[in-house]
Amino acid sequence: MTSFLRNCWHVAAFANELDADFLTRRLLDEPVLLLRTSGGTIAALDDHCPHRLVPLSIGKRVGDTVQCGYHGTVVGADGRCLRIPGQAHIPNNSATRTFPVLERFGLIWIWMGDPALADPSLVPNLFWLDDPHWVAAKGYVHMDADYRLVTDNLLDLSHETYIHQTSLGNREEESIAEFPAVVTIEDGRAVHARRDMAGIEAPPAWVAARATSGKIDRLQIASYQPPGINMTEAGHRQHGHGGDYATFGRVMHLLTPETATSTHYFFALARNYQIDDAALTQAIVDSTIATFTEDRFVLELQQKALTERGDDRVPSMAIALDGAAIQGRRLLEAALRREREDPKAVLRPQPIVPKLDMRDAEPALR
Ligand code: FES
Ligand SMILES: [Fe+2]
Repeated sequence: MTSFLRNCWHVAAFANELDADFLTRRLLDEPVLLLRTSGGTIAALDDHCPHRLVPLSIGKRVGDTVQCGYHGTVVGADGRCLRIPGQAHIPNNSATRTFPVLERFGLIWIWMGDPALADPSLVPNLFWLDDPHWVAAKGYVHMDADYRLVTDNLLDLSHETYIHQTSLGNREEESIAEFPAVVTIEDGRAVHARRDMAGIEAPPAWVAARATSGKIDRLQIASYQPPGINMTEAGHRQHGHGGDYATFGRVMHLLTPETATSTHYFFALARNYQIDDAALTQAIVDSTIATFTEDRFVLELQQKALTERGDDRVPSMAIALDGAAIQGRRLLEAALRREREDPKAVLRPQPIVPKLDMRDAEPALR
């Protein structure tokens, strides 16, 4: 049974990826060709030539059209067939399917369900990703793993102890897991897992930045809403000093299925301080890719095992740490069921309300 929600907006690309002639990307297991016209309009077409179904993208961009690389048929950004070499007549059934698409918050969003239901107001509000008072360190990681496995991973950050030993993990084994996550469901549409860790061993990134070890208070809030909208807030403060938690950035993980067993992982760490510091932004991108590559290693092995077994059900053994991930899966399952039972049902995003801001940002972890 499909794990894809269709009547909702998915992230298809970062906006600057459409600076090229066109971009092709498999989304929800369909090949899509994305382009920006000279007038600035964004278009998303089924990447199949209406003539013989070869990918339109093997052809070339000609003005605001795409010319197929096999027999030269020309398709416009609206999907209409505009020219067929050697004949004046354009058959009635020649149009290529298009998808509703729009640009918002520096991202290209696509609607792969019923086009009549594509309501722009249903894009989740991520204003900090293109607000002039903010800057976002953005990047992309491809994972050969079901997008649901990636959300499972993001909803249980106790894995930092083991997967991210050199950066985010703690040297004390099981130290994060010893603090149980408090899991809450918001309006039946979002799940939050909050872990307050007072007096925990500082992770390596903290020790390196402060040139000191010792205990800190650590706070993590992992949030998820279907289909693949994840946010992590991580707060830190010196143990025993009280005061506000500081966070180094607002971290979005936007997951779009490529296929049932692979994921486009768009990330963005936004901050509202030192916004002109391009070197800092690049350093965040680099360290984040390094961190998520560690997750990818595990998730791809997990996917491989599930594929070999022919079963996409996880976990095979449920433990207490799975609490938030299980709730996240339930929300997604409920949304999928609604869409199956009512093809006109649309997914309404839950407003994303961050708990931490960067007002008192702790420089140590920037
Ligand atoms: S397959 Fe594209 S023109 Fe023939
Ligand atoms: Fe991780």
